[in-house]
Amino acid sequence: MKKILITGGAGFIGSHVIRHFINSYPEYKIYNLDVLTYAGNLENLNDIDKNKNYNFIKGDITDTSFISEIFREHNFDAVIHLAAESHVDRSISSPMDFIYTNIVGTANLLNAARSIWENNYEGKLFYHVSTDEVYGSLGDTGFFLEDTSYDPKSPYSASKASSDHLVRAYHNTYKMPVIISNCSNNYGGNQFPEKLIPLAINNIKNMKPIPIYGKGENIRDWLYVVDHASAIDVIFHNAAIGETYNIGGNNEWTNIDLIHALCKIMDQKLDRKPGTSASLITFVTDRAGHDLRYAIDSSKLQNKLGWTPSLEFETGLEKTVDWYLANEEWMNRVVSGEYKKYYDEMYGE
Ligand code: NAD
Ligand code: DAU
Repeated sequence: MKKILITGGAGFIGSHVIRHFINSYPEYKIYNLDVLTYAGNLENLNDIDKNKNYNFIKGDITDTSFISEIFREHNFDAVIHLAAESHVDRSISSPMDFIYTNIVGTANLLNAARSIWENNYEGKLFYHVSTDEVYGSLGDTGFFLEDTSYDPKSPYSASKASSDHLVRAYHNTYKMPVIISNCSNNYGGNQFPEKLIPLAINNIKNMKPIPIYGKGENIRDWLYVVDHASAIDVIFHNAAIGETYNIGGNNEWTNIDLIHALCKIMDQKLDRKPGTSASLITFVTDRAGHDLRYAIDSSKLQNKLGWTPSLEFETGLEKTVDWYLANEEWMNRVVSGEYKKYYDEMYGE
């Protein structure tokens, strides 16, 4: 039986990764390590948390002695590291949270894994889940490849770039068996509504303004979160040690076109007159240092490991809208309290 530590499993992508591994590999023992920040929500795992192979450990990856202790206690075979501060706007207002969690937290995990594994790395793996934002911002043409130079532009992406460098350094220096993947923007159910798509769905539903930064011309490459989980599975099981893989949907949208597509779906689902939701679009002050365009070339992953995204964007977007409309209570609980304070400060209500 493989013992796998998955960090950040109560968050958006982590919860989908845990569900995928629990359902696909009943022979693995999965440990979800999460401190439950505002973004961590154990409700995301309600459907699998009674599984006998699932274990939850509440804890902070920045707590060095605690992290060493859980590695000594459980002797994990592998780590899939997703825990992070993940929202660019928050990194602009509170960069130090990102430095501690994303850099120091990753270093703590690497050190703890090294101290347990160092005498015999056979069968061990440290899989670091990262982002395409480490490559910076593209102009109108071109794609991010695995060997594109790092050029992070926000405190968030700089902290993720630092963590990637640390992971590679531990491979080079200590021979730690590592793999890194860098993925484009994810969307789907269970995403915290500070991110564009769930924020817009919730505001449209409540007939509130949809804030679009600048002119809405920035471009993102969107991937359905379940497809990210399947890519992590394929990479975890098949990638060569020390390799990096880009993961993306080959699915570029300007923010404004995406929001129009979403508004159309929402009008249909909520039985509204066409154009009702789009009338909520409101252009607001741009994000500081806003990256213009991300676009991933994932041909290495597709050609070498045979992974492909399973869904067309329109289908995924509709499934996502259905999820949020069917999970109204999840949304209501999430947007109350602490998040309401952030929203009021961020969008001036
Ligand atoms: P998220 O913010 O939804 O979840 C992060 C999780 O990490 C939460 O459950 C939180 O409680 C936990 N966490 C935060 N700090 C912690 C700490 N100090 N100790 C333990 N747990 C802690 O994030 P997400 O969008 O699911 O992203 C997960 C990972 O994937 C991140 O590493 C992110 O950089 C990466 N990523 C995200 C995207 C995206 O589009 N969301 C794309 C590519 C890569
Ligand atoms: O590319 C991968 C990254 O995608 C991940 O590493 C990050 O964790 C994840 O948050 C995401 O970053 P973005 O900044 O691209 O995602 P976000 O949903 O915050 O914004 C998407 C685009 O929409 C971006 O161009 C900013 C814009 N935006 C966002 C918000 C929240 C708006 O126009 N209005 C908004 O209110």
